[in-house]
Amino acid sequence: MANSRVLIISDQHYPYSHPDIFAFLKALAKKYKPDRVINIGDEIDGHSLSFHPHDPDLASPSDELKTAINRMKPLFKLFPKMDLVESNHGSLVYRKAKFHGIPLWTVKSYRDILGAPKGWAWHTHLVVTLSNGAKCYFCHTKGSDIQKVSQAMGMSVVSGHMHERFEIRYWANSEGLYFGMHVGCLIDDDSLAFSYNRLNLKRPLIGCGIIIDGLPKLLPMVLNKHGRWNGYVP
Ligand SMILES: [Fe+2]
Repeated sequence: MANSRVLIISDQHYPYSHPDIFAFLKALAKKYKPDRVINIGDEIDGHSLSFHPHDPDLASPSDELKTAINRMKPLFKLFPKMDLVESNHGSLVYRKAKFHGIPLWTVKSYRDILGAPKGWAWHTHLVVTLSNGAKCYFCHTKGSDIQKVSQAMGMSVVSGHMHERFEIRYWANSEGLYFGMHVGCLIDDDSLAFSYNRLNLKRPLIGCGIIIDGLPKLLPMVLNKHGRWNGYVP
């Protein structure tokens, strides 16, 4: 059955992604052999293009994007087919173009900017029929209360964006069982790009999600005291 093992890759924020992101994703791919891979957005950070002030100690827009692409490249081979949902960081090139009055048709596509494989497709959001026949909605974010979002959609929901949320909330009605899943993120919390968050008590939760035969599972990347992946494959 199609969509029996749907791997969800959480916010990566290349080039400010966790240094062990590829090793972790490779291990997950080997263990779970996903038949569908969905990238929940913020695949690149775009700090230098942001509407917020640019940290003078971080790279220029061009250098940042080139580094992001170089770090992302191994994923092109590991996951030649991937669906990506649009996100606030991932879409910065288009948001900035629009802000400055540049017609979007003059700007390259997501795939062309990144040099991504033909199998990578970007969507505003996605509804996928899982292998158990249930529908699941994938979006970057529609709010922090994932159960409410799921109830409003009338189907299960997976979303990203909230880096410190890594949770599954089940609910049911007379028609069936549903879930909302927040999949955390895959960022490098030590990067200067996230210094805005340094004083917050809640720290980002590093990991991914998977849906196996219609049921969700969180896949935490367990870190050692130096912030590196300890090698455990959840
Ligand atoms: Fe994000």
